[in-house]
Amino acid sequence: MKILAVSDKDDSKLQACVLKNMQFLQNIDLIVSCGDVSKQYLEFLVDNLKKPLFFVEGNHQFLSPEKDIPGNYLDNKLFDFFSHDKYITSGGINIHSRIENFNDFIFVGFEGSLRYNKGGFQYTQKEMSKTVDKIKSKIKLIRFFDCLFKRKRKDVIVVTHAPIKDIHDKQDLCHQGFTSFKKFVDEIKPVLWLHGHVHFEGQTNSQITKHDNTLVVNTYGFHIININDNDIKVVSNIQNLADY
Ligand SMILES: [Fe+2]
Repeated sequence: MKILAVSDKDDSKLQACVLKNMQFLQNIDLIVSCGDVSKQYLEFLVDNLKKPLFFVEGNHQFLSPEKDIPGNYLDNKLFDFFSHDKYITSGGINIHSRIENFNDFIFVGFEGSLRYNKGGFQYTQKEMSKTVDKIKSKIKLIRFFDCLFKRKRKDVIVVTHAPIKDIHDKQDLCHQGFTSFKKFVDEIKPVLWLHGHVHFEGQTNSQITKHDNTLVVNTYGFHIININDNDIKVVSNIQNLADY
């Protein structure tokens, strides 16, 4: 499976490559956005590459309406219950706090960042912990039934905007990682964790870290991820285009 992962900036270099239909963009199976890119940018990628898009919101540039929409409580609840399209926007599927199956993998997502002001899509450690625990329980249940019915266990890929605590995060409140993400990694052991939010400005190295069995990739800009069985190869946007 080949993933094009984007986040944090609308990369004109990538757009030029898409228009030239460059070799490294051939055979992409899925586009993943870790947030903080514009709706127009994602629509451009989906329209031109004609591939499915999974996304989570960042703490800027929201694709979905913010939470706490004013309106009748019952109307909102009924809409939530009956609408199958509520997760779909800009040609993509919002995977925040949800599970989506794709190509023998389970994708889960967690949007936003640690709360640092009154802006949207920000969560306290405790709030995020509740969301993460809910998804952990669902995955454990899926694994229980996989074991019971002797089905092949699917590997998990996680898509977040914010980083994991102590992996690629920073000291300031806005860019600190979530502790519940660390617990998720240790308990569920996903094969891949894609995040954004931590910018590379001034940095010459990519941020790709192996934590136990999980490859953690800061997707700032764009990255190409190739997964073949247990082998995962990542090409960072900071590498020379000739490497593609
Ligand atoms: Fe961000």
